[in-house]
Amino acid sequence: MSAKYEATVTAPVNIAVIKYWGKRDSALILPTNSSLSVTLSQDHLSTRTTIRASPDFGKDRLWLNGVEEDIAASKRLINSITTARNLRAALEQKLLSEGAPAETVVPLSKWSLHVCSENNFPTAAGLASSASGYAALVKALGVLFDLPQSTSDLSRVARVGSGSACRSMFGGFVAWQAGVSDDGHDSFAVQVADRQHWPELQALILVASDKKKAISSTAGMQTTVETSELFAERVRSVVPKRMEAMQRAIAERDFGTFAEITMRDSNQFHAVCLDTYPPISYMNDISRSIVSLVHAFNAARGRVAAAYTYDAGPNAVIYALKDDMRDLVELVTYCFPRDDSTLLEAFYPNSFAIFDSADQVG
Ligand code: ADP
Ligand code: DP6
Ligand code: CO
Repeated sequence: MSAKYEATVTAPVNIAVIKYWGKRDSALILPTNSSLSVTLSQDHLSTRTTIRASPDFGKDRLWLNGVEEDIAASKRLINSITTARNLRAALEQKLLSEGAPAETVVPLSKWSLHVCSENNFPTAAGLASSASGYAALVKALGVLFDLPQSTSDLSRVARVGSGSACRSMFGGFVAWQAGVSDDGHDSFAVQVADRQHWPELQALILVASDKKKAISSTAGMQTTVETSELFAERVRSVVPKRMEAMQRAIAERDFGTFAEITMRDSNQFHAVCLDTYPPISYMNDISRSIVSLVHAFNAARGRVAAAYTYDAGPNAVIYALKDDMRDLVELVTYCFPRDDSTLLEAFYPNSFAIFDSADQVG
């Protein structure tokens, strides 16, 4: 009987405050612009992935949320697994060339893998499942293969699965540097501040719909790159200055600036989606009413006390400081009552809140 080679990990989602939207290279997943995100606590939203390797498995297989996916049909899955496998092969070579006895160097790079992955939150609904999903895959491969690479190095492997996944390799505040190369060596994630840097900052998740989006992020951004004129302007003149201003706001814990840039960047990303031809609308009526509610909340406070942001889906993430978040949750609960009232008190960085507004408005 052969020994079991297996690894289990979890990975968090991250929600961008400067959005990644557009690739300059679709195969390597090289972005048109840098982006910046906050990694959320794994207490409520996370992916859990187990990978087992065996010389007896005939081929690589993957089960996502209990259903087998066709790996052969997914270039990005093949790319991330192959990239990690190549790193393992290089490690095996190195160990052997350094004189390690052959029987101590397990030829995992030659074995097939069975991957089992579960998201404990809606998949493909704009809550960054591809980010936590591919980050978990690559973390598990790193553990299974005993890879010596740094987290930023491994973030490149996650990137070839899903761009946003490179940022989920770190906690706290994370930048994905777009890089300028053709081979992607300079396109990876770095942590700009750890989660203890700003403990008062919290995130509230409002689930407006848990349905799978009609247009995947991958397909949506490709059409944007091909058809939107606004998009080129965003990449050229808006994002670079926002990246700088955002990093300064985080360093100084300046919530007003952090919040305004976050909302403006979410709005511009969705404007670029509408400027895509045919247009793409990820937000729905509930999303838009939450935008109005946040602006009303800020107007009532006489300062920017909360910021909404939406990924490629209708679900809102609201950032606020702890004291304001308490009042905001009360307001949201009042405006979006739920029959079964599932309100989880769960904040970043200790935990974070999920308010499922179902299909009700006002
Ligand atoms: P999201 O907004 O949830 O990130 P995307 O359109 O970017 O939506 O990506 C969704 C796709 O990501 C899924 O259809 C699936 O192919 C992939 N994905 C999601 N979760 C996982 C996972 N845990 N493991 C592997 N792939 C995953
Ligand atoms: C709107 O990383 O999901 O969430 O690289 O094609 O897998 P692929 O796309 P993905 O795009 C995320 C887009 C976004 C913004 C962001 O997370 O920065
Ligand atoms: Co995604």
